[in-house]
Amino acid sequence: MKKDIEILVKNSGVIKLQFFNDEPDGNLVIAESMKSVPFDIKRVYFINNLHRFRSVRGKHAHKKLEQYIFCVNGSFKIKLDDGTNKQEIVMNDPYIGIRLGPKLWHEMTSFSKDCVILVLASDYFDEADYFRNYEDFIKSINN
Ligand code: TYD
Repeated sequence: MKKDIEILVKNSGVIKLQFFNDEPDGNLVIAESMKSVPFDIKRVYFINNLHRFRSVRGKHAHKKLEQYIFCVNGSFKIKLDDGTNKQEIVMNDPYIGIRLGPKLWHEMTSFSKDCVILVLASDYFDEADYFRNYEDFIKSINN
């Protein structure tokens, strides 16, 4: 059995999705609003074609948005930073979602070629909800 992920930063957490192992016909994995996912899912996006191990994604925090991020295929690393505590998590279990709550700087790296990232979000896209600059993010935490 895999070791449970211990979350050391604020505004994060772990969920494990329900799945059915329909061997030999694959797995079925389920995410439901207000059940396994504790908000109304308004937006779903995925990231694929990560053929460059050196690619970097994220490098931002959100002001209000709630998200859960999954690695539904392959693997990658995610760095989380709440402005005080930092941690890195290896994402390689398709059933595990990591909460990206408000004011949590995150950066994704070390993508396997077959990596597919899935994100469930509590709201529509809004560029005004982003901290794209790390100093602005840190200032917002100290205010
Ligand atoms: P961004 O959130 O920075 O991606 P990542 O965190 O995965 O590196 O978004 C990259 C670009 O895509 C940016 O120009 C905004 C745009 N975008 C949308 O238009 N809608 C969306 O739902 C998302 C997630 C991004």
